[in-house]
Amino acid sequence: MKVCVIGAGSSGIAAVKALHQRGFDFDCFEASDRVGGNWVFKNRNGMSSSYRSLHINTSRERMEFSDFPMPATYPDFPHHTQVAAYFDAYVDHFRIRDRITFETLVTRAEQRADGGWDVTTDRGDTRRYDALIVANGHHWDPRWPEPAFPGSKDFAGVQMHAHEYTGDDPELFRDRAVVVLGMGNSAMDIAVESSFVARRTFLAARRGAWIIPKYVLGRPMDSFPWSARVPIGVRKRVQAATLRLAVGDMERYGLPKPDHPFGGAHPTVSDDILSRLAHGEVEPKPNIAALGERTVRFADGSEEEVDVVVYCTGYKVTFPFLDADLIAAPDNDLSLFRRVFHPEIRGIYFVGLLQPIGAIMPLAELQSQWICDHLAGRYVLPPPHELRADIEAERAAMFKRYVRSKRHTMEVDFEDYVLGVKQERRRGARRAAAA
Ligand SMILES: Cc1cc2nc3c(=O)[nH]c(=O)nc-3n(C[C@H](O)[C@H](O)[C@H](O)COP(=O)(O)OP(=O)(O)OC[C@H]3O[C@@H](n4cnc5c(N)ncnc54)[C@H](O)[C@@H]3O)c2cc1C
Ligand SMILES: NC(=O)c1ccc[n+]([C@@H]2O[C@H](COP(=O)([O-])OP(=O)(O)OC[C@H]3O[C@@H](n4cnc5c(N)ncnc54)[C@H](OP(=O)(O)O)[C@@H]3O)[C@@H](O)[C@H]2O)c1
Repeated sequence: MKVCVIGAGSSGIAAVKALHQRGFDFDCFEASDRVGGNWVFKNRNGMSSSYRSLHINTSRERMEFSDFPMPATYPDFPHHTQVAAYFDAYVDHFRIRDRITFETLVTRAEQRADGGWDVTTDRGDTRRYDALIVANGHHWDPRWPEPAFPGSKDFAGVQMHAHEYTGDDPELFRDRAVVVLGMGNSAMDIAVESSFVARRTFLAARRGAWIIPKYVLGRPMDSFPWSARVPIGVRKRVQAATLRLAVGDMERYGLPKPDHPFGGAHPTVSDDILSRLAHGEVEPKPNIAALGERTVRFADGSEEEVDVVVYCTGYKVTFPFLDADLIAAPDNDLSLFRRVFHPEIRGIYFVGLLQPIGAIMPLAELQSQWICDHLAGRYVLPPPHELRADIEAERAAMFKRYVRSKRHTMEVDFEDYVLGVKQERRRGARRAAAA
């Protein structure tokens, strides 16, 4: 049995560590010269979406791997340099750096008739594997507005995607009029940064969001210990009440009233944006309707002279090395059993391809252990009809709860996901024993 891992970001290194410790024969190919993926600012792979000021928005203890705590000297929300250093230390601590082949891009992964995989890299060689673990990340391929706004071709100013924003060019926003589009975390950070130097900063959005501060009652908002046994409705109600006490209604800041209940969208976390709105340094606007040569017209008919538009409109989930007829995620939607197993295609596993309310890393660690169980024959999947029913039930619940959007196709609740995988691993172990 030989396994191939694609990518050595935080998800890939979790997979590598699990495979290494459990004695599997494997290769891991990483396009960059180092681990850490998105957290390596200006990563030479060109795929990082980090900007100079980026700090995590899931707290340190939420994000760290279970058996390798982040240094106690780190703040609750470390800077990206600290996060990258932590992943670097992780591979040294577990002595897995030499298990990763760096500066090697996987260009093609094709399933053979016998179910194995032929993996080709940009070094020109093709190797055979029995299984493929895909950990190529899902926040590197920018999604621009689809379709583009009318007039965007004629706009004479700067149009850019958040992915390109590094925060390194002090002149980009200085004394200019800037429109930041979106209500996710990229939009919050970039609008705040713009507001300190720009002449005017407009935050445009097609819907409102419940903006969650990083700290509530003196501690990180995501550090309150919730059990998955407490019904999600109760958890959401308590969190919504806490948020209301902490920041009040979004309309008080001039933002649109969210068109969904609290918990109906991926969390937008920012301490600073509400203050910048309250100071009038960020001006809320509805969605962009059209661009002129020097202007942006908004959905309420208002029009502003604008120099720079930053589209913080999210990312596409893509696997450029896979045959798109076999596996693709149109509109970011790829059905998987508990976000790991493909329902039809065996021998392929996904790690980190989920959007938790909470951090990705401990979940990637759990997924990696689960994959090793399956590879070792210690876990057997449920029969196909049960597997399909499980996927459908999970999808139905997610689509019912979340606003319909390309950003809500793989949302999971951290505690519930952990509990569900643990239970499923036990069920699958019993199936394996019976078989
Ligand atoms: C600005 C920003 C801030 C974020 N903040 C948080 C946060 O605070 N908390 C949180 O939990 N999540 C956050 N995220 C989500 C982010 O996806 C995760 O933090 C994390 O980066 C996921 O790790 P990953 O390994 O799955 O993907 P990545 O970090 O993207 O790593 C993927 C790796 O795969 C490699 N790779 C890709 N394709 C190939 C190929 N074909 N061949 C070889 N190698 C390949 C890449 O070089 C890269 O090293 C943030 C995302 C963004 C964009
Ligand atoms: N650590 C941090 O502080 C930090 C910072 C940045 C990003 N991140 C993470 O990185 C990931 C990506 O975040 P993101 O903010 O870049 O993207 P995102 O979460 O996908 O948000 C995209 C935003 O753009 C809007 N949008 C998309 N297409 C649009 C269109 N055509 N017209 C108008 N609005 C449109 C979306 O609105 P709808 O909701 O209506 O679709 C949404 O508000 C998330 O996991 C996020 O948590 C973290």
